[in-house]
Amino acid sequence: MSATLFARQPHASPRTADKRAALMEDPGFGRVFTDHMVTARWREGEGWHDARVEAHAPFSLSPACAVLHYAQEIFEGLKAYRGDDGGVTLFRPDRNAARFRASARRLAMPELPDELFLGSLEALIGADRDWVPGGDGSLYLRPFMFASEAFLGVRPAAEYLYVLIACPVGGYFKGGKSTVTVWVSDDYTRAAPGGTGDAKCGGNYAASLIAQAQAIEAGCDQVVFLDAAEHAHVEELGGMNIMFLMDDGSLLTPPLGGTILPGITRDSLLTLARDEGLIVREEPYSFAQWQADAASGRLRECFACGTAAVVTPIGEVRHAGGAFAIGNGEGGATTERLRARLVGIQRGRTSDPHGWVRHLD
Ligand code: PLP
Ligand code: COI
Repeated sequence: MSATLFARQPHASPRTADKRAALMEDPGFGRVFTDHMVTARWREGEGWHDARVEAHAPFSLSPACAVLHYAQEIFEGLKAYRGDDGGVTLFRPDRNAARFRASARRLAMPELPDELFLGSLEALIGADRDWVPGGDGSLYLRPFMFASEAFLGVRPAAEYLYVLIACPVGGYFKGGKSTVTVWVSDDYTRAAPGGTGDAKCGGNYAASLIAQAQAIEAGCDQVVFLDAAEHAHVEELGGMNIMFLMDDGSLLTPPLGGTILPGITRDSLLTLARDEGLIVREEPYSFAQWQADAASGRLRECFACGTAAVVTPIGEVRHAGGAFAIGNGEGGATTERLRARLVGIQRGRTSDPHGWVRHLD
């Protein structure tokens, strides 16, 4: 199904250009939404149907709606960028489509065909193109799907709603921070082997919030989770992956083993690092080693990466037993080079050797 196959019910009173400009001036993250949304439905025996672009508006749900009870919900996050020529692009949306299908399989939900996923992005951007910011802003796209059947039995639901909403965004961290401080949680874990850690489901984030609240209480921006079995190895942050740059020119990151999210930014950065001759190591890294390497200077730089965070240097690490700085606490040259290379490709300012950018008409 392509964008042209979505029924269109345009907003009766979209916001005026002045109102839109005011809202887009300093949108923050996830607070300002565009005029439209895309919806599509799935029912057992019928499959996907009723795909449409309509006004962004509340929808009503039965109090017995299955997602409200058993949390059968998955989502994605990607951005649309406005190039200096005014064109609009997406970055590797096929990877989000594939991850959305993988998350659906893990949560026993129907898979959304890539054609419908990608078509929905095109259809929404077609309707809300003026909401794609220029400069350093972007339009954050949030596809999600949930069990919409009114039924309290514990089994995969027989009805689902797919929705795509969008919001113009600036930086994820408040005040446009250039480095962040992280809190290492030694009591809460995010995901266990055999669990849902590598799926992008809302439940993973619900489980992370108490640890994220502790991080904020400790004056930090994000929580770092350790593995569930030993509480020894670094896994990822609440909403981003993590990478370490060593003094021997290697870039180290925890391996994908089912408990961390296979980040598209992570994969892209590993590719760009290999392109420039860095040794990429996807290996377990213990918190004890992290502390030792920061103290000895073996660890030069460390950063968080993800769609929302892009590439953000980690300047300081706090934990129940104390705190330590990474390098001079202000990031470093290799992190900045990788960030600039990624952002340059995403925004069409540099060449795209891997064919990651998709131009929209
Ligand atoms: N890890 C978690 C838990 C996330 O929520 C995200 C963000 O989507 C990532 C990693 C990074 O993934 P991506 O680079 O695909 O945005
Ligand atoms: C993203 O980077 O897209 C995320 O999903 C992280 C967070 C906003 C949940």
